[in-house]
Amino acid sequence: MKEIKQDSSTIAWNAMGDEWFALAQKGESRNCFIMPNMLRLMGDVRGKRILDLGCGEGGYARELTRRGAQLTAVDCSRRAIEYAAALAEKEQLAIEHLVRNSSDLFDIASAQFDIVLCSMMLMDCEDFDGTLREAYRVLKPGGRLFASVLHPCFDGNHDVGIGRQGEGLDRQVVVMNYFEPKEWEAPLWGGTIPVIWRHRTMEDYVKGFLRAGFIIADLNEPRATDEQAKISTAMAWLQKIPLYLYWELRK
Ligand SMILES: C[S@@+](CC[C@H](N)C(=O)[O-])C[C@H]1O[C@@H](n2cnc3c(N)ncnc32)[C@H](O)[C@@H]1O
Repeated sequence: MKEIKQDSSTIAWNAMGDEWFALAQKGESRNCFIMPNMLRLMGDVRGKRILDLGCGEGGYARELTRRGAQLTAVDCSRRAIEYAAALAEKEQLAIEHLVRNSSDLFDIASAQFDIVLCSMMLMDCEDFDGTLREAYRVLKPGGRLFASVLHPCFDGNHDVGIGRQGEGLDRQVVVMNYFEPKEWEAPLWGGTIPVIWRHRTMEDYVKGFLRAGFIIADLNEPRATDEQAKISTAMAWLQKIPLYLYWELRK
């Protein structure tokens, strides 16, 4: 079997082992906000061919399959793919699972997907241009890339970049340095194993998308609904500060 191209993102995320799965499955912001917003924005997916790039534990791929789409789920972490494949099999969901670096989707044919999904992974991959080039290549003409990322204006390295001040609903975002650091190592929220975090500015995203040939079709900064705000203070804060940004790009 051909080995995948290794880089700092694939090495860091392979070292994560199982930790991400538990964090993802119990993560309030992922499950009550990031994921429902993405599924809403993607709309009706029945009959669509979808590539879930950086699928992690595979929750999106399983839900999109339940909604009638035909899924290929890719991640650089071998353990994540084994885990996601086992959950899909348990539910008898026919999902193709592949270990690949997002910047080198060797043997995945060009122009075959209606949608590429990148949920919370464009900040993680080392080779941003290579990942966008591959996403563009495998999309059909007119196909769409849906991506969610940490909002680069309101999130970043909290100690020296884009920090926090105050508590509860009055918490503020304070910008000490929008441009730096671009990269740092730290565990995920609630985790123990360090991964590489990357901060890409608005300009980095837009210019990267345009370089790859994409048209920017839409941008969303969802606010928490009143229902979501009732869940916790952290969720209620999302009625004031958009911590997540959603891109829709078209080939
Ligand atoms: C924050 S997790 C998001 C997982 C999933 N999309 C979700 O939203 O639940 C980022 C995922 O991207 C994967 N990843 C990071 N860099 C990658 C790369 N270069 N190629 C493929 N997958 C990558 C990681 O292994 C991890 O599963």
